[in-house]
Amino acid sequence: MSVSQTDSTVTVTIGSSEVKILRYGATVLSWTIDGKEQLWLSESAKLDGSKAVRGGIPLVFPVFGKSTEGPTSALPQHGFARTSTWEYLGQTSEKPVAAIQFGLGPENLSDEAKKQWDYNFTLIYTVTIDDANKTLETRMSVENAEQNKPFDFNILFHTYLRVPEIANVEVTGLQAVPVKDKVTVSSYVEQAAKVTVSGEVDRVYENVPGAVNVDVENKPYLTVTRDNINDVVVWNPWTEKAEGLADFTPKQGFHHMICIEAGDVAKWQKLAAGDKWEGGQKIKAHL
Ligand code: BG6
Repeated sequence: MSVSQTDSTVTVTIGSSEVKILRYGATVLSWTIDGKEQLWLSESAKLDGSKAVRGGIPLVFPVFGKSTEGPTSALPQHGFARTSTWEYLGQTSEKPVAAIQFGLGPENLSDEAKKQWDYNFTLIYTVTIDDANKTLETRMSVENAEQNKPFDFNILFHTYLRVPEIANVEVTGLQAVPVKDKVTVSSYVEQAAKVTVSGEVDRVYENVPGAVNVDVENKPYLTVTRDNINDVVVWNPWTEKAEGLADFTPKQGFHHMICIEAGDVAKWQKLAAGDKWEGGQKIKAHL
């Protein structure tokens, strides 16, 4: 295992796997196996800390989307985790898997973000690559470091998976799951055994029971499993939405990505003072 650092990134290599993480947002920018990229990153993504990264794995905390009421209502869309600079805490495992950690607390937030969400907390983010099993795992622990104030939070790994061509993608593992569909503004139960994308998709699947599989041309391509994480968001902006996102390049890039976002977003996670929550996702590449 080797770890190389620059002022803005930390890169971990083990065997033929490599992961590169931007300190800003603790955003995973790239995950390669034998040089093959598994994540989608916009060519015009801002990597200078001026904006959340368009691609890779931005972290959503403590609110998913934009809330109009309650303690998170002053925060921007998707909260502050993806727009704060995290502290690199070092490596926690060298063999047989490589793992590194990042931390975030109120001391790392801008004065503005602190005012917008005034709680004492500790986030520890662990990124693990397992070369033998071709997996990338991202795990978060959230601690309420208040003396006696509970807080509610959403958390989500906003993963942009790279796919050869969206027209050939089928997503399984979502059938019979309740959906909140933000495009049609409706709620229903997913009927499809194989979910396909041929237009804008923005859906929150609530309490997904098992693994979500991304198949390409009828073959397993990537599998996302979750530990202590209930929901899965499926997002593809398609033509018009991509057109409207200044940092989405090339504009036809939506052909080569699908966001499968593991998170707890349909309901608030409640954390009492002194308590800790932990959950994660594991992505396996079928190469
Ligand atoms: C998804 C949301 O998780 O993120 C979408 O469900 C949203 O509604 C998308 O458009 C991208 O969000 P942002 O803030 O990164 O442009």
